[in-house]
Amino acid sequence: MSESRPVPKLKVLGIAGSPRRDGNTDLLLRQLMAGAASQGAEMKTVILSELNILPCRHCDGCLKTGKCMVDDDMQWLHTDLREADRVVLASPIFFMGVTAQTKAMIDRCQALWVIKYVLKLPVAINPAKDRKGIFVSVGGTRLRNLFQPAIATVKSWFTTLDINYDGELVFSGIDEREAILRYPTALKDAFAIGQKLAASSTPK
Ligand SMILES: Cc1cc2nc3c(=O)[nH]c(=O)nc-3n(C[C@H](O)[C@H](O)[C@H](O)COP(=O)(O)O)c2cc1C
Repeated sequence: MSESRPVPKLKVLGIAGSPRRDGNTDLLLRQLMAGAASQGAEMKTVILSELNILPCRHCDGCLKTGKCMVDDDMQWLHTDLREADRVVLASPIFFMGVTAQTKAMIDRCQALWVIKYVLKLPVAINPAKDRKGIFVSVGGTRLRNLFQPAIATVKSWFTTLDINYDGELVFSGIDEREAILRYPTALKDAFAIGQKLAASSTPK
């Protein structure tokens, strides 16, 4: 009789990029993660404003080894990013881009850029996996193309991490702390996207 091995759980990493706790992107991220959890995924959420992540100093220390020289929370977050099957990045729009906390984290992935493009090694711990990522955002204004600069940044970061961009959940005209709660379908939409993200395939 053959023994059936347990199917590994899909790993979903949520990244909260707003400095405002329990704000709009936090609420959306929480719902999205709850949706993914309902599919049996293994969840982890990191709150960037509570971590110690310095900006990249372009010292080129990572250039030969792919290891960042700056010893802070980015060291373990690199591992989480390389292991995740799904990444959900949530950041509001600050001056037409992602928040400083989010951008510092993204820039510190230069070491992973080196692994991929200089050392020509796999960035993902299991390169056979189909990794996917989603961007969650809100902005206070209703400017046309409000999210486009941030989406360009996030896509470039996902590409470096060998994560396929699976779309965005964005809302304009959302400014005060819980304004998103007045948006009739926002939290339900976030939950459904999380369900779909975790259900779309099983890890190999
Ligand atoms: C420093 C700063 C810059 C901002 N820049 C923009 C902006 O360029 N465009 C915009 O639509 N909203 C801007 N906002 C508004 C936020 O995107 C908005 O308040 C959002 O709801 C905050 O999300 P959170 O509750 O998840 O923190 C800015 C807010 C701050 C504090």
